[in-house]
Amino acid sequence: MTTATTGRTTRKGAVGTAHTRVEGRDKVTGAARYAGDIPFADLAHGWLVLSSVTRGRIRAIETGPVLDMPGVLTVLHHGNAPRVETDYVGMLGAPDPTAAVFQHDRVPHAGWPVALVVAETPEQAREAAEALVVHYDTEPHDTALDGDRPDARPADGHMPAVTEKGDLAAELAASAHVVDVEYRTPEEHHSMMEPHAATAYWDGGRLELVDSNQGTTWVQGELAKMFSLDESAVRVRSEHIGGGFGSKGLRVHQVSAVMAATMLQRPVRVVLARRQMFSLAGYRSPTVQRVRLGADADGRLRALEHRSLNQTSTVYQFVEPSAGVARVMYDAAAHRTANHVVPLDVPSPTWMRAPGEAPGSFALEAALDELAEKCGLDPIDLRLRNEPETGPVSGLPFSSRNLAACFREGARRFGWADRDPRPGVRREGRWLLGTGTAAASFGAGALPSTALVTAEPDGTFTVRIAAADIGTGARTAITLVAADALATTPDRVRVHIGDSDFGPAGIAGGSMGTRSWAWAVGAAAAELRERLALGTGIPPEGITVRSDTTEALASLAQKERHSFGAQFAEVAVDTTTGEIRVRRMLGIFAAGRIVNPLTARNQLVGGMIWGISMALHEEAVRDHTGGLYGADLAGYHVATNADVLRVEADWVDDPDPDDPVGIKGVGEIGIVGAAAAITNAVWHATGVRHRTLPIRPDRVL
Ligand code: MOS
Repeated sequence: MTTATTGRTTRKGAVGTAHTRVEGRDKVTGAARYAGDIPFADLAHGWLVLSSVTRGRIRAIETGPVLDMPGVLTVLHHGNAPRVETDYVGMLGAPDPTAAVFQHDRVPHAGWPVALVVAETPEQAREAAEALVVHYDTEPHDTALDGDRPDARPADGHMPAVTEKGDLAAELAASAHVVDVEYRTPEEHHSMMEPHAATAYWDGGRLELVDSNQGTTWVQGELAKMFSLDESAVRVRSEHIGGGFGSKGLRVHQVSAVMAATMLQRPVRVVLARRQMFSLAGYRSPTVQRVRLGADADGRLRALEHRSLNQTSTVYQFVEPSAGVARVMYDAAAHRTANHVVPLDVPSPTWMRAPGEAPGSFALEAALDELAEKCGLDPIDLRLRNEPETGPVSGLPFSSRNLAACFREGARRFGWADRDPRPGVRREGRWLLGTGTAAASFGAGALPSTALVTAEPDGTFTVRIAAADIGTGARTAITLVAADALATTPDRVRVHIGDSDFGPAGIAGGSMGTRSWAWAVGAAAAELRERLALGTGIPPEGITVRSDTTEALASLAQKERHSFGAQFAEVAVDTTTGEIRVRRMLGIFAAGRIVNPLTARNQLVGGMIWGISMALHEEAVRDHTGGLYGADLAGYHVATNADVLRVEADWVDDPDPDDPVGIKGVGEIGIVGAAAAITNAVWHATGVRHRTLPIRPDRVL
């Protein structure tokens, strides 16, 4: 497989050509069934009951009256639920015990699941759940995140908590220009279209789960450990998924459905209501970030410090590694990054699209803009002057780093050269106009996966891989990659995904899905072609080859592997109402070889729109009770069509030199830097620096 290193990809094949989703017709005609829609005979329905207090203990649950209600089959709670194992190490470390429902009487936060009412119909289950009386002994709670909390502690997540080199105080003192600012981002929620939904049942001694998740073998492994089952005794399927964004791993709905199906010995479905998702689906923690930058008169960084604090629950430590972005983007003689957490009486946060990079890039890239102003430099010039040769913290070479090319192409297409750098000088009636830019990066990793590729006797091919298409177009991307690897056309390739019986595969997460699966599918296809070349004929059952990329990935050279991007935004700020309109956004990315321009653009534009949402709209607010108010899509504002005017995403040629297809991944980078570009544009329009998101009208006025 060859790719050009400059200009357009030269090889003719399916990869790189626009292809509509292979399951698109099924989706728009309703033939594609989502987890909560699939019919089962004898199906029972569970409805979760969430705590109405923020902290305390369950004193009593009045199950009697509810068990007498029509259709009610059982009420599961800590007094009767099966015990599960939580002391294990799963694919992503120790599990969040939040998923291990009904194991004790403690309530560690508002919206904690305290019971599951199971009935013949969802309506009966819900009515009974709402009638269930639970008595609590309440305890005082603490839900206020604050930058000065003495109980904040440095926290290792998937990366070290603290990195440091050089003498920060000395370099700051020697700097001609210093920026020392605090940024805040609010609690944000995934708000994917399809709520979490799972149906569990036993089939001949085997546990079956029909679910909506980001990795069937991931959830299979977690359930097997939690219920002390052999992995082969658990099968998880997840065929169509209406969005995940990091939230669709192992959660209470699957575990409670398995418990109820085990107790009743019939299929049980549990679906989260939209309001329940605000408590049970995870969320992005609010952050308090401090950025200190020191630069020479010519804008070269001498000092860079990026600290971030996020909240976690008292039952699980989740780190939103916002300071991590500084470890990739810019170097300085003195360089310090630190991720801190503080446990509060709140639900456990989790991964949400570009965890770390999304809030981290807001703070760092807004601070860079402030530094550019102080240095009297164009913000793009400032960034280009500070392009590092190697990883600022790791010292490793970059596999490729095409950030400068993104800025050059973006500046040209956006018309950056015509920009008057002075803030507050462009006016159009009552609107002040401004433009802003920001850099983006996101890791380009791959996870070990296995794939099965079969040559059928009729000359077609079947691919089986436990991939998850959470809306990204992964199924289609795998089809294109397989077609090229098999030297055939996409219409001769059938791809089956979302079934743990296909063997271990990486998750749809960390922007690694398509790359991980493509690697495994490509490896199996290559071996299959060799077998076919022997010309021995294809038996009726076909010829199947299985690949496993574990070894290939383990032998990859250590490098800094990332996608990069340049974000541009033009805003208009209404000086009488405080309304901000994002008139135009352009993102130019260096994100590896693009497998399918149609769906890749969907991902990038979707991320950028989320950036609009993050900059201007999204904010979950807890009141003094510790609960969220407005915990639904009426109270929690996301950008809608009316908020989205012109958003364009494109890319420069940037094949990953170490990936068989050249892929890096495009799932998350679209949101990175997007909020900063908008925030920097708001400064350019108004002359006011906003350091707290979202930039609501009342904050503008
Ligand atoms: Mo993404 S937050 O890795 O699903």
